[in-house]
Amino acid sequence: MSVRVIIGAQWGDEGKGKIVDLLSDQADYVIRYQGGANAGHTLNFDGQTHILHLIPSGIFHSNTTCVIGNGVVIDPLTLLDEIALVKKSDVDIEGRLLISETAHVILPYHKSLDKVGEHALGGQKIGTTGRGIGPAYVHKIARVGVRMMDLLDPDLLRKKMEVNLSEINTKLAAYNAEPLELEDMYQQMLDAAEKLRPFICNTTYRMHKALSAGREILMEGAQGALLDIDHGTYPYVTSSSPTAGGACIGSGLPPTAIDNVMGITKAYCTRVGNGPFPTELNDETGDKIRDAGREFGSTTGRPRRCGWIDLVALKYAVQINGMNELVVTKLDVLDGFETLKACTSYKINGEETTEFPLGLKDLDSIEPVYAEHKGWKESTRDAESYEELPQQTKDFLDAISKYLDVDISIVSTGPGRTETLVLSDL
Ligand code: IMP
Repeated sequence: MSVRVIIGAQWGDEGKGKIVDLLSDQADYVIRYQGGANAGHTLNFDGQTHILHLIPSGIFHSNTTCVIGNGVVIDPLTLLDEIALVKKSDVDIEGRLLISETAHVILPYHKSLDKVGEHALGGQKIGTTGRGIGPAYVHKIARVGVRMMDLLDPDLLRKKMEVNLSEINTKLAAYNAEPLELEDMYQQMLDAAEKLRPFICNTTYRMHKALSAGREILMEGAQGALLDIDHGTYPYVTSSSPTAGGACIGSGLPPTAIDNVMGITKAYCTRVGNGPFPTELNDETGDKIRDAGREFGSTTGRPRRCGWIDLVALKYAVQINGMNELVVTKLDVLDGFETLKACTSYKINGEETTEFPLGLKDLDSIEPVYAEHKGWKESTRDAESYEELPQQTKDFLDAISKYLDVDISIVSTGPGRTETLVLSDL
């Protein structure tokens, strides 16, 4: 039996979907614990690409039960679209998809608020995915949110939506935006509720039963550690806790149940949306990484900002999550580079430090200090074992592992399931 949390160690898009898919083969349960349809987990197998936003990546393994935990914010319409897509691939989800009755609902009005909120911030906008994530979490914390169980109670649902809409329309009027009508939205939610009813349950007890029965459980984070509302580059963060603590809050499983925390990092670094990115490359090298890595958002299609791997930020992610396993993805993207760089410290106002600062002023004034590594000419995609990788590749990976003081468990050398080198007994 083991419980493993899988966390993006950077600003998201590290390739968690592929790794969860891989480990799901042996998992009885995969539970998603935070975020919403802002995430996009891309899976490639059998010559097809699948992008999941809400349903855990384990859904394509018939023995795995997939759980959308209480910490997730759910857009019922997006979820229904996704269920339809998964079913189209001949996947039987009956009894294999569980949705927490206490997860909060993203309503169409949250998306409107997301848009006007971003517009109001002007030059300081966060660059959100526009999926209504922030406003839905605001309602949750303000204790006026609609939970999945409320969707199944038409009177309560109407009451809650009425109260929220009257306040929201006042806000929208202040931004000169059109007011929203209740009736269509309400009806849409009632229809969705009926379709989702069979999946909605008390997932906390289901997870505890699984725990007592000694089942293999994977907890799947969305986004990444540096987008965490508390520990990330605030305010340029998402509105939930992708870090390991969030796994407990968003699932009902206790910290003492967790055996392993696996951090996923790319061999370089990317970020979508605005905010500090110390190792960003606004030059030909950044463009080369973007092209080779096909770095365009799977949720919004936005080009991702690209740069060298940042070991200072990664070390911080290792610390706040207690990561004891590391996965390095998209190694093949660095094939053919003459020289590679890895940031090993920051200069802030002339002072060198290996501490990741948390204030925007310091974050914005970072000058990265790099260690240089020899690149490799060969394609790493052909390697069938770690030993077969070019020596320079192994040296680069060794340097990352040593700096972070975490062993590398898996290296991913391409998008396919087979392009994966497993280094340790998982
Ligand atoms: P929100 O989560 O849509 O509110 O967006 C807040 C910030 O998190 C923005 O910078 C988004 O680009 C970023 N973000 C949200 N979800 C993801 C993701 O899955 N991958 C990478 N960045 C994300």
